[in-house]
Amino acid sequence: MTDWDPQLYHRFRRYRAEPFAAMLDRLKLQADERIIDLGCGTGENTIEIVRQTVHGTGLGIDSSPAMIDGAIKAMENLDPGIARRVRFVRQDFRDFRADREYTLVFSNAALQWVPDHRPVLAASYAALAPGGRLAFQIPSNETETAQQSMLVVAARDRWRERLADARLPGLYVRPLEEYRQMLTGIGFVNLDCYYRTFEHPMTGPAEVIEWSRATSMRPFLERLTPAERTQFEADLLLELEHGYATRGPLIFPFRRMFLWARRPLA
Ligand SMILES: C[S@@+](CC[C@H](N)C(=O)[O-])C[C@H]1O[C@@H](n2cnc3c(N)ncnc32)[C@H](O)[C@@H]1O
Repeated sequence: MTDWDPQLYHRFRRYRAEPFAAMLDRLKLQADERIIDLGCGTGENTIEIVRQTVHGTGLGIDSSPAMIDGAIKAMENLDPGIARRVRFVRQDFRDFRADREYTLVFSNAALQWVPDHRPVLAASYAALAPGGRLAFQIPSNETETAQQSMLVVAARDRWRERLADARLPGLYVRPLEEYRQMLTGIGFVNLDCYYRTFEHPMTGPAEVIEWSRATSMRPFLERLTPAERTQFEADLLLELEHGYATRGPLIFPFRRMFLWARRPLA
């Protein structure tokens, strides 16, 4: 897959920050948390969590060179007292292994990019010290108009062959109940798993395309030439205007799944 575009991803920073703010509010961090952030992107969340601890430490891992470069750059402007407690490493989180090292395994909007989530959750359990916490947020919006419209357009004669193997990242996300079973089967306790839908005002369907270009549309766009991309987006815009029944302002609903759990003390 082509690399991420951090600037494009951050165009809707205010909206993308809402689920993180909800998580941070609930984390109630201890003074000496040892944190790992799986799929940390440009690292703002990792840094913010560490900043909220008195002398906690954080490691952010991400497979994207552009994202990790951004995270390392963000460190340059940090207070040295925080900077020496944060590290970023380029790594696939499917290869992440640790033995009871962390008090918090955190992940925001990253797990949906890989199939088969159980091994990552099991490695997270192994990485947690007894009593340690798991806090994951996973977008789970694959039935919403924007993502369904991408599938509708991609299935048309014009695109079917070119986009035959393009998948929405959300298609890897399983129903909530399966995560409850996975987490319990692995050994986690104190589960709290739920969906929450965030409502983002948009100026129109074109802005929904802007939002999607950095994330769910990537598997489609990266298979197309620049001219084809323009045409695909034009076709999608018509489909979205039809789907949302407007060319004007709309509320873009975005459902996200939250998984909270704890490794037992003994
Ligand atoms: C939507 S961004 C979220 C970034 C960050 N967590 C945030 O909340 O801003 C998803 C991130 O997951 C990373 N990612 C996707 N698959 C990954 C993998 N297998 N291993 C490590 N990082 C991965 C991407 O490179 C990207 O930075």
